Amino acid sequence: MLMYKLNDGQVIPEIGFGTYKLNGRKGVQSIVSAINNGYRMLDTAYNYENEGAVGRAISESGIDRDKLVVTSKLPGRYYASDDAIAALQESLYRAHLDYFDLYLLHWPNPKRGMYVEAWQALIDAQKFGLVKSIGVCNFLPEHLNKLKQETGILPTINQIELHPYFNQADMRKFDKDNGIITMDWSPLGRASSVLKNPVLIELSKKYNKSVGQIILRWEHQLGTVPIPKSSSPIRQVENLSIFDFEISNTDMDKINSLTKSDGRNKDQDPAVYEEF
Ligand SMILES: NC(=O)c1ccc[n+]([C@@H]2O[C@H](COP(=O)([O-])OP(=O)(O)OC[C@H]3O[C@@H](n4cnc5c(N)ncnc54)[C@H](OP(=O)(O)O)[C@@H]3O)[C@@H](O)[C@H]2O)c1
Repeated sequence: MLMYKLNDGQVIPEIGFGTYKLNGRKGVQSIVSAINNGYRMLDTAYNYENEGAVGRAISESGIDRDKLVVTSKLPGRYYASDDAIAALQESLYRAHLDYFDLYLLHWPNPKRGMYVEAWQALIDAQKFGLVKSIGVCNFLPEHLNKLKQETGILPTINQIELHPYFNQADMRKFDKDNGIITMDWSPLGRASSVLKNPVLIELSKKYNKSVGQIILRWEHQLGTVPIPKSSSPIRQVENLSIFDFEISNTDMDKINSLTKSDGRNKDQDPAVYEEF
């Protein structure tokens, strides 16, 4: 698997594994299966209530810790600096890990005005060795500009909603221009109607790949990092098998044209949506 180099020198795989909704014993089994199937980057969050399941899966898989990139996220209710460090430590205790490879602010929650303080706490956490790299999710240009202005440090990653119905062309450009890697959440549109889109079905036949593979390959060719979730070992393998074909420029444009201004799955616009 190829790796992306982050702006702080760390490297991450070009695809990861989402774990939202993978909880309890069944969740552990799915995550062990994902590791055994070849995923080397796992995406969890304090708010998924499965950092314990992720840690348990890592230990059951028998893989060396340093072969994995483990991501977690700080929820908005802990953005005050002391709370942030304690919440991060609690996440590590739950996961039975000494450090996260990537640690992200989960939402900017701009009305609260706390994300700069939380970002400063992440900068400190990186210095303490609790996390290797730091980043954000769902940040808009104005939020990223503010981080740069107030701390001088930009995130390595911006993890945002990205799928064919919401392809984030402007946000991707902003990230790229600022040396930030775009990571895609709900890369399969959370298995919504996008999987039945006629253009994607036609391309699926043309390339002899599933619609899911077409979408993930398109995201890869956009230069972004998808993190598909699947509880099914078969679909886990399917979603990793996207590196043996190439979508033509014309067909990339066809997929690019499917985007809609209101294409977000659940209308979660980070300018106004808040999550704690
Ligand atoms: N930072 C944020 O704010 C944020 C927000 C949302 C999500 N995330 C992260 O992003 C990850 C991925 O997003 P997501 O879980 O929302 O959605 P997703 O990965 O787009 O879609 C997952 C859904 O697609 C199905 N699926 C998986 N592979 C498939 C395939 N090849 N063909 C057809 N269906 C397939 C899965 O069902 P099965 O399980 O039955 O295969 C599941 O229902 C999350 O798990 C989480 O780690 C981050």
